[in-house]
Amino acid sequence: EVVDGGGHVLLPGLVDLHVHLREPGREDAETIASGSAAAAAGGFTAVFAMPNTDPVADTALVCDHVWRRGQEVGLVDVHPVGAVTVGQKGERLAEMGIMAAGEARVRIFSDDGFCVSDPLVMRRALEYASGLGALIAQHAEDPRLTCGACAHEGPTAARLGLTGWPRSAEDSIVARDAILARDANARVHICHVSTAGSVSVLRWAKEQGIAITAEVTPHHLLLDDSRLEDYDPVYKVNPPLREESDVAVLRRALADGVIDAVATDHAPHAAHDKDREFALARPGMLGLETSLPIILETMLRPGLLDWRGVARAMSEKPAQIAGLADHGRPIAVGEPANLVVVDPDFEWTVRGSELASIATNTPFEGMRLRGRAAATLLRGRITARDGQAARQEERSWT
Ligand code: DOR
Ligand code: ZN
Ligand code: ZN
Repeated sequence: EVVDGGGHVLLPGLVDLHVHLREPGREDAETIASGSAAAAAGGFTAVFAMPNTDPVADTALVCDHVWRRGQEVGLVDVHPVGAVTVGQKGERLAEMGIMAAGEARVRIFSDDGFCVSDPLVMRRALEYASGLGALIAQHAEDPRLTCGACAHEGPTAARLGLTGWPRSAEDSIVARDAILARDANARVHICHVSTAGSVSVLRWAKEQGIAITAEVTPHHLLLDDSRLEDYDPVYKVNPPLREESDVAVLRRALADGVIDAVATDHAPHAAHDKDREFALARPGMLGLETSLPIILETMLRPGLLDWRGVARAMSEKPAQIAGLADHGRPIAVGEPANLVVVDPDFEWTVRGSELASIATNTPFEGMRLRGRAAATLLRGRITARDGQAARQEERSWT
């Protein structure tokens, strides 16, 4: 599982529970092919593609297209996440059973980018998904409390004159959904936890035996809202970058297992949607090719996680949460492997234009990072080497 190979480290292939690959609908920002290349280059062997596409992934037709296209590209398993409600409008439940029975075998449903704010719809969604053995992944935001704001409510936003997105908009939904999951006897997963309050609620809920899991993004583990100083839209993201004190609590919670997994919320945007005045720019950041080195920087090197812990947070736990049998575990002798060979000391400078993603909206532009995937293997085939996805003809058996 974790073998130190004299400078290189072997991990099970990384699993990302939360990416936006923009196909169908916004192929000018990312496609399943370019997103798969970014994933393989970043050390991933499985990713979960969020349903806020155009059309929305609320039918087996769309979900199965995403799955098949991923298999055709062949660099990473692209598991579609189904929409909870029809058109992500938060009203009528989508036919999750049909998506679950399709070729893609959809096992996670989410209204990420939206948020089921009606508690009755959420309660029914939890019961429905639970009956299917599926999982609801909640984008924890109460839009009645965020009210269109795009910066964390705190001293920085006040000084800059930006309207504030309060922590309560997140904390209250996490608490509500923990309790709804308890009553529905269902599992629930919280996307991109960003506040100290969410961590308290998660700790409480887990102590109560509620079947709740949560993820945190690399950007929420590294960056805080002091970055907003120049109204630079590259730092605009949902949920917003919080305060230094939240960042410290998030790191500690991932170390303690209160937060289960790292997920990137990889959110590519075309330049004409992102390079705009802060108020008009789309929220979101690239994440797939920078996740591993940022986790090494924020968690491994400060001693908050050892390599075993990195494997757990980036592979084993997400695979377990998603119910993937062939990822995130030690491989048997002779089995075609899903794994990543990490060069932990390789230093590189992030250039958005050099990443495999079509979009270039990385918040780490120009940053020196240490560590990358020296090789990624999907079922025994090399899908990336030294930060570059393999071309079709290079994906030979090893
Ligand atoms: O920052 C975000 N970007 N948060 C979301 O919830 C949606 C995502 C996107 O689709 O761009
Ligand atoms: Zn979200
Ligand atoms: Zn998202």
